Order: sequence, then structure tokens, then C-alpha cells
Amino acid sequence: MHIIVMVGLPGRGKSYMAMRLCRWLQWKNIDCKIFNAGDYRRKFLEKEHTFTDYSWFSPNSSTFALKENIAESALKDLINWMKQESSNKKVAIFDATNSTNNRRDKIKKMLSDVVNENQILFVESICDDQSIINSNFIEDKKNNEDYVDKPVDDAHEDFQKRIKEYEKNYESINDNEIYIKIYNIGKKFIMNKLSSNFQTKMAYFLMNLNKKRITIYLTRHGQSQDQLLSKIGGNSNLTDHGKKYADRLLNYFDLSNNEQYDILCSDLMRAKNTANVFRSNNKYNVEIHKELNEIYGGEFEGMTYEQIKEKHPLIYNLRDNNKYKNSWPGGESYYDLTVRLEPILLRIECNKNKLIIVAHQAICRIFYAYLMNIDPKDCVNLEIKSHRLYEFTQEKHHRQVKWYDL
Ligand code: SIN
Repeated sequence: MHIIVMVGLPGRGKSYMAMRLCRWLQWKNIDCKIFNAGDYRRKFLEKEHTFTDYSWFSPNSSTFALKENIAESALKDLINWMKQESSNKKVAIFDATNSTNNRRDKIKKMLSDVVNENQILFVESICDDQSIINSNFIEDKKNNEDYVDKPVDDAHEDFQKRIKEYEKNYESINDNEIYIKIYNIGKKFIMNKLSSNFQTKMAYFLMNLNKKRITIYLTRHGQSQDQLLSKIGGNSNLTDHGKKYADRLLNYFDLSNNEQYDILCSDLMRAKNTANVFRSNNKYNVEIHKELNEIYGGEFEGMTYEQIKEKHPLIYNLRDNNKYKNSWPGGESYYDLTVRLEPILLRIECNKNKLIIVAHQAICRIFYAYLMNIDPKDCVNLEIKSHRLYEFTQEKHHRQVKWYDL
């Protein structure tokens, strides 16, 4: 059990970090939940039909105690959630400003009900680069529910005043605490007293996390000879139809813009020969990763589903009932894939250039589920069509998907 307590002035990217961390942890089969004080406040004020302008956040205002109480009720829910039984490990993230020693001392005291001090990790985002603060506002806050129906300029002005209110009492975390301090969204990191494998892994993830929200493309390889015969696995080459798809794929990106792309493809012929078309232009950097190879069919590689069903009905049904957990004999399950793909998932979070992943059906299902916040167990039946290019963009904290049949 661990608790991550975010710290920082408004507009420092705390919620973005919390969301990405949470998704990452959920993917690793950890029960992770975010408790966001701002969401609690908005829910509370919705009932009152009140707009919270900057004065609500002022330490001198009559609403200050109410604001603190609302944040505390989020923390109480977090503690109750931690107390609930779960078969998995649990991590809760308290996403709020938590910007004074007094508030953090209270938090620690309350959390002592469920964890010891070594299980509390503070993550502080410190930012004095106004251009980053402005771009955080443009990316996140303009869509913030606090400013619905407000002209962007008015919203921006109010938000700057809100920051000033918090600055009046802001105290950075002191060295008695276990913390990771992130300066200017990743330009500098300071880590203090990290004492467990979990905490160093969190630091590693945050150090890699890309603030730039890159577009990610996902596609299956072009049609292969084995695919035409409905055989699973193998290492066959592209059909003419598959080669034409590769050309259309290149054409799509060649025409779109002049940006740099990293292409990650599997080590299987059908994927490599789809991605090879990108080697014609140095705006593309093609890399081969064995981790992206198709789910391994073990003893049944090269057979069709019909043949497996006919010759091994029991095994067929067993796997069909739970493809996430069960594999063909000697092969891999979807769960095995989630473990194998971890380094590539990290790459998705940290890549600086746009990414194009050229892989296989099962691999694309895993990435699709990861990017769209779908439970990994539900990825096994996602439809990932051949010769379809999936485009994932980031809107606020969530990703959106569009696709193009090429
Ligand atoms: C908020 O209400 O938006 C955040 C409250 C806080 O953590 O200060």
C-alpha cells in the first residue's frame, strides 16, 4: 500500500502527472485511484450554483476553511477506499495543492490510520517558467469545468489571480519527508529519502514522462500470406495487397507534414516489410523491437482456428473462455503480453517525437486498451481492423482515437 500526495501551485501539471501515473499503475495490475480535491469542490459548489473565482482560494477569505474542509473530505474518502479489501496492491493519489507544511502535517496525521510514514510519497511540481504555466493553462484549464462559459482571457486572468492567492502561503516540502521534486516539468529532479522499490520506480516513471502530448499511431502490418490462409503466428511475408497498404501508409504520412516520427515495428517479416517503406525518408526513424512480435501461439503456431477447434476442442474452449489468462500450449496469454510490452508502454509515455507502431492484432489490442483507459482484461475482443490506421491524440488528460481506412 502506498499513497502519493501531489504538491504544487495551481497550473503546475499535477493532475496530468497523477493521471498518467494512475494509468501506468492500473496497467501493472495495481488498484490505483485518484482523489482530486478540485473535483470535490466543484461537486459541492454545483449544488450551490456558485462560481468560484480566485477569491474563494484566498487564505484571508471567509471561504478558506470551507475549501480546506472539502479537500479533507476527499482525503477521508481516500482513507476509506484504502481500508476496503482488495486482492491487488493498492495505491491512492491525493491530487490537491497541499502547498503548506500545516496542510501536509494534517494529511500525514490522517494517513497514519492506513499507512506508515515510509509509504507516503510526496510529488511536488515546481515551476517558475511562465511560458510553461501559460501552456499548461491553454492545454488544461481552458477546458476546466471552473471556467465553463467564461471567455478564455477572463479565465486566464482569474486563474493567474488564483495562483497569486496560493503563493501567499506556499511552502516547498522540507527534507524530513520522502519526496520527488520536479522543476519546470522535468528540467530538474530532486529525490529525497526514497526508501522502496516502489518509490524509485515512481521516480523513474516521472523522470521519463513526456509533458509534450505526442500523437501516437497504431497499425497492424499489411496483409500477410499466412493471414490470407487464416493461420495463426508464423513469419510469412506480405501479399501484394499488404505491400500496397504499406505504400498507402507512407503516402499518408509523407503528405501530412514534415515532422519527425519514430516508427517502432516488430521483428517479424510482415511488420518489418510494412515499416520498411519509411526508410525512404530521414524524417522517419525506424526501430525494430522484438517485444512487439505477435502473441506466441506455442504448439499451435501455423494452425487455423478451425483446425484447433476441431482437433483440440477442450483447449480451444478453455482459451476462448479467458484469453487474457489462458494461452495455447507453450504459448503466451494476453497477460503475458502486458508484461512483455512494459518497456514499449514506457516509450509511449516518454517519446519526444510522434510515434507510429507497426505491429500485430493482439499487440494493437493491448496498446489500444492502454491508451483508451480500457481494462486490460477487456482488450481481448477489441476489433482492430487490418489496413486501418488508428490515431491517438491527447485532449486535456484523456486520449481520443480516430481512424483512417487506407
Ligand atoms: C481546488 O479546490 O481546486 C483545490 C483545493 C486545494 O487543494 O487547495
